[in-house]
Amino acid sequence: MNSLTNQVYPVIWHNNAVSLIDQTRLPREYTFVEISRSDDMAQAIKTMIVRGAPAIGVAAAYGMYLGAREIRTDDRDYFLQELEKVAEKLRATRPTAVNLFWAISRIMKAAYETIGTVEEIKNTLFQTAKTINAEDLQTCYAIGDNGLKVLPASPEKLTILTHCNAGALATAGYGTALGVVRSAWREGRLSRVFADETRPRLQGAKLTAWECVQEGIPVTVITDSMGAHCMKQGLIDAVVVGADRIAANGDAANKIGTYSLALVAKAHNIPFFVAAPLSTVDFSIGDGSQIPIEERNPMEIYQVGDTILTPRGVEFYNPAFDVTPAELITAIITEIDAFAPGELRKYREKQVV
Ligand code: MRU
Repeated sequence: MNSLTNQVYPVIWHNNAVSLIDQTRLPREYTFVEISRSDDMAQAIKTMIVRGAPAIGVAAAYGMYLGAREIRTDDRDYFLQELEKVAEKLRATRPTAVNLFWAISRIMKAAYETIGTVEEIKNTLFQTAKTINAEDLQTCYAIGDNGLKVLPASPEKLTILTHCNAGALATAGYGTALGVVRSAWREGRLSRVFADETRPRLQGAKLTAWECVQEGIPVTVITDSMGAHCMKQGLIDAVVVGADRIAANGDAANKIGTYSLALVAKAHNIPFFVAAPLSTVDFSIGDGSQIPIEERNPMEIYQVGDTILTPRGVEFYNPAFDVTPAELITAIITEIDAFAPGELRKYREKQVV
């Protein structure tokens, strides 16, 4: 049961097009961008108008339908060939979040498996995209509630530190890490969220803080280098983050800075949780060394708004994600249950048999 008044849905099907909350303009402006072509959806994903692994997956699924709608033919084979090109463009937008590839594969599978006219295939793709969207919302509710089983049992209300934004904005709604936060808040188990600002794009300061304010959840924004100090001072009871891709052994890629947070949490004996849907687990890769890490434009480090931060002549390195080794993760909270990282593979084996 989840009754929240200020629900945020970053991807909505409306008026025969997709409405995306423009996350590049928050928290100053709460505006929507209307997308009716697949190329525009690819651009929106690349430029992070929509971001966060599950939300990217939902957006890409609708992007596939928009692309399908643009293909003018009655020839099934030609249609499928053209649809593969749409998939290729969308896949090329961001490399790390596996939900993008997962959602596109699910749409392609639906296309190949539909026996019927091109119009019927298009209709199936639309229904599949809507299903992916609806399922992700339910998944987030389940993740939030499963998080309650593993958060420290304490007579005191908890403080949770999170990194980046794994909230409603990053999913179909409600969030993964912030889903756990929301559920804990609803149950009266949370006193405050600490949000890392998350350089260079500031998803924590801008987006996580905005979501908490919408919901009336007390939030303290700290810079990325303050986590260790806050933990040492006893200000943090648990760390909960999202993930962009989890390898079969439980290694988890998430926003740059997550790995150092996990190391510091381990040093202070503070539980470190990764909250993510099973669609974020890439069982095709054995460990985190095989996760592709996106490198973004150096301008993100060089400049904040109009302010230039560094002298001329320096070099930049801007990896957008890092990989937290499984041994630093207390549990991975999914929609099915919370697993020790090593149990993911066993769960998968049981599913496949
Ligand atoms: O670059 P972003 O903003 O897309 O990165 C987002 C994150 O790293 C999130 O923590 C992750 O995608 C999980 S979202 C539920």
